Amino acid sequence: MSRIGIGLDFGTSNTTAAIYDGTDIHYIKIDPFTETGTIMPTALYLDREFSPTVGSEALSRCLKDNTGRKIVMTDKEVGCVTVHMGEMDRDHFIERDRTFTTVVTGKIDSLLPGRLFRSMKSYLGDKGNPQFDVFGKKFRIEAILTVLLRYIHNQIRVVTGDLDIHLFIGRPVLYSGTGSDPNRVALERMRTTCTNGGISKVSFVMEPEAAAVSYLHSHTNHGSENILVFDFGGGTLDLCILKRQKEKYSVLSVSGIARAGDYIDKMIYRKKIFPLLGEGLHRDHDFHFSEFEDNLLNWQSTYLLNQAEYIEKINHLMKAGGEPEIMAVRLKKLIRGNASFLLMESIEQAKIELSSHDSTVIDVEEIDLHLEISREELEEIIEPLLGEISGVISLALARAELDSSQVDRILCTGGSSRIPMVKQHLAHIFGKESEQWDSFRGIAAGLAVAGFNHFQESKGQTDSES
Ligand SMILES: Nc1ncnc2c1ncn2[C@@H]1O[C@H](COP(=O)(O)OP(=O)(O)OP(=O)(O)O)[C@@H](O)[C@H]1O
Ligand SMILES: [Mg+2]
Repeated sequence: MSRIGIGLDFGTSNTTAAIYDGTDIHYIKIDPFTETGTIMPTALYLDREFSPTVGSEALSRCLKDNTGRKIVMTDKEVGCVTVHMGEMDRDHFIERDRTFTTVVTGKIDSLLPGRLFRSMKSYLGDKGNPQFDVFGKKFRIEAILTVLLRYIHNQIRVVTGDLDIHLFIGRPVLYSGTGSDPNRVALERMRTTCTNGGISKVSFVMEPEAAAVSYLHSHTNHGSENILVFDFGGGTLDLCILKRQKEKYSVLSVSGIARAGDYIDKMIYRKKIFPLLGEGLHRDHDFHFSEFEDNLLNWQSTYLLNQAEYIEKINHLMKAGGEPEIMAVRLKKLIRGNASFLLMESIEQAKIELSSHDSTVIDVEEIDLHLEISREELEEIIEPLLGEISGVISLALARAELDSSQVDRILCTGGSSRIPMVKQHLAHIFGKESEQWDSFRGIAAGLAVAGFNHFQESKGQTDSES
C-alpha cells in the first residue's frame, strides 16, 4: 500500500493527477501529447478496432478523421416490436388472430472511423442504464470510463510503482443527471469503474474542499477566517464554505448546480450560431429549425441529420435564394461535412479568448462561418446564469449561517471562474475581490494532500494501538 497521497481530479473537461509525499506535490504527466502533460482533456477515442486513444491525442484524431468526411447513413436492425391486435372487455384483453412483428431499424453512420467520448462525467448521474453504441456493441458508461481510468492508473504506477494504490478522487457537490438521486448513482458508477480499473481503495472528497486543502497547504499561519471556494468548471459549479482555524479547517456548508462551461458553450451556439443556420425562417419559408436544434447542440448525434427527411428540407430552403439560401448551404455543409465538433471547439475557444480580449472571431472555414463576437455579447448571453450563481451562493451562505460580509476570502478555481463577468459578480455580492487559485491543478493537489493526511492519521492510530 502506498505511503504517499494520490489525488485524481476527474473533470468534465480536464483531468489531473497529483501525488504528495509529505514534502513536495508532484503532478503526474498523464497526457503525452501536450507540452507539460499534466492537464489532460478528459477524452477517449475508440477506433473501429476498439483501440483507445486518450486526452489531447483523442481530440486531434477525432478532428482529423471526421472533418470533411462524407457520411453514409445505413439502416441497422436495433430490435423487434410485436403488436397483438385485440380488444378489452371489462376485465380481459381478448387477442384476435392478428399479431404483427415489426423489425425496428435505426440509422447509423456506417463509415464512422471512430467514436469520441467527451464530458462523460455529465452522464454519470443519469437514471436507468445509459449505454453507448460503439460499432454495433453496447457499452455501459462504466465500461467506457474504465478504459480511461486504466490508462490513468498505469501512468500513476509509472511514478509510484505501486500496484495497490489508494486513490483520492474529487466529486462535485451535485453531479448532473436525469435521475432523482444523481449523486448516489454517480458515485456507485465511479466505484464500479475504479474496481474494474484495478483500483481497490478509493475515497471521494468534494472538489471545492480539495481546492481549499491545497490552498491551505501552501498558505499557512493565516489565523482564523471564513473561506468560500467557488469552483466553476466545465460541467458543474461547486461551492464550499469552510472555517479555517490555524492549521485546521471545518466545512460549514456546500452547494452546487450542474451548470458550467459546457452550458455556456451551448448558449453561445444557440444565441449566435443558430440564427446563421436557419433559425427564425419558419414563417416565410416553412423551415422548422427546431427539428434540428437538439442534434446540432449535441455534436455526437449531429450525424443523424444526414437522413433524407432533413436534407430534403434543407434542399428546399436552398431554393429560396438570398440569405436563407446562404444559411441552408451552411447548415448542409455542417451536417454533410461532419463539422459539428469542430464548431463546438471553435465556440469554446472564442469564449476562452473573450476572458482576456474585448472581441474575437469564431472562424470555421469548413462551413463558411466567420463571426465576430465581443465580450459584451458574451456577457449578454451569460447574464441569466448570474441569477443562478447568486442563488447557489445564497444557499451556501444560509447553510453556513453566515451573511456575505462574514466571508473573509473568496477563492476561485476551475476554468469558467476566469470569466471577468463572473469575477465582477462575486465582487458585487461580497464587496471584495476574489483570488484565483490554481484553476486546473489545485483540486488534484488538494486530493493528494488529503490522501497523505489520511495515511498519516491511520498510521498514527495503528501506532497508538500497537
Ligand atoms: N480563460 C477561460 N475563460 C473562460 N472559460 C474558460 C477559460 N479557460 C477554460 N475555460 C472553460 O473552463 C472549463 C474547463 O474548466 P475545468 O478544467 O476547471 O473543468 P473540469 O474540472 O473539467 O469540470 P468539472 O469540475 O465541472 O467537472 C471549460 O468549459 C472551458 O471552456
Ligand atoms: Mg473541476
